[in-house]
Amino acid sequence: MYKITVVGGDGIGPEVMKGAIATLESLDINFDFLEMEAGYECFKRNGTTIPEETIKSAKKSHATLFGAITTLDNEKSPIIALRKSLDVYANLRPIKSFEGINCLYPNLDFYIVRENTEGLYSEIEYYSRDEKVAVAHRVVSKKSSRKIIDFTFKQVTTNEREKVTCVHKANVLKKSDGIFREIFYEIAKSYPNIKIEDYYVDAMALYLIQKPETFDYIVTTNLFGDILSDEAAGLVGGLGLAPSGNIGDKYGLFEPVHGSAPDIAGKNISNPIAMILSAGMMLDFLDERYHANKIRIAIENTLKRKKIATPDLGGNDKTIDLVNAVINELKDL
Ligand code: NAI
Ligand code: MG
Repeated sequence: MYKITVVGGDGIGPEVMKGAIATLESLDINFDFLEMEAGYECFKRNGTTIPEETIKSAKKSHATLFGAITTLDNEKSPIIALRKSLDVYANLRPIKSFEGINCLYPNLDFYIVRENTEGLYSEIEYYSRDEKVAVAHRVVSKKSSRKIIDFTFKQVTTNEREKVTCVHKANVLKKSDGIFREIFYEIAKSYPNIKIEDYYVDAMALYLIQKPETFDYIVTTNLFGDILSDEAAGLVGGLGLAPSGNIGDKYGLFEPVHGSAPDIAGKNISNPIAMILSAGMMLDFLDERYHANKIRIAIENTLKRKKIATPDLGGNDKTIDLVNAVINELKDL
């Protein structure tokens, strides 16, 4: 029996989460889902974007599923708070094309690994005394760099991939990204069979468009990883298909890359696939690889058939229709 903390959140979060839960419940595994709150609606009810109970529950669970939240200007981001509390330092974002999906590149299959706990998202920001200047700290520690880069090389080994690309801006951010690049080359020495390269982040934004098929695993700091992974999602069919996993030494937190999508919230037309794929990544984390693969194959088959599609995929179907199509495919596997 797996105890899973479930945070639907705001906007389309709860509806895509419902789809992921229904998919997981159709598998031959026992789950105990603990529904917890976070986000804007939670703030309106409780005066906090993330109650202590939610964090406690996540810490007591085998893994956590997170839908999406609407960010409030003056409140701390609950997802960043949760990632930090759980010390899930690696944000793993698969970039994969699916047959049947109209996208810029039909044959991509690579990963972006984003450092999740520091960088420009350290949330150390302040105004000068006259409030005319705002300063944000960009924290890059040797310890965290080592953890994320080591994680990446281990993933490459486990998944029998070939190459790691380190992305930074060490020509300008000489100290912070200097550390990141230095640690990358230091760790790479222990993996002589893995190919390595490094690019400046601006060039990388270009190469993701010009030669995305040359990448295997990309490792980078927090903000760069956030931006590049949305760009990369755009290469393979958009945010509705982009899952992610936040993984640490102890905990795992799985969520789609997208946000609460206020423009389509409440219409039941959101694409649930990113959330269901994230649940699949959770199964990998729980070492339920057989079932994780089944979910991926069911999604591949559903998309390939092109019978059911939400509006972002060019169709007119509802969230629930796509969920049911995936569950039906699962039954046949
Ligand atoms: P967004 O990801 O919510 O939406 C961007 C665009 O993609 C919109 O046009 C939306 O309709 C579309 N989209 C996203 N997910 C989709 C899905 N599953 N199916 C179909 N279309 C989908 O990003 P946006 O609009 O910049 O942010 C909206 C809110 O979400 C903000 O409050 C933002 O701060 C928050 N946000 C939360 C995240 C999280 O919960 N981890 C991540 C990113 C943004
Ligand atoms: Mg983002």
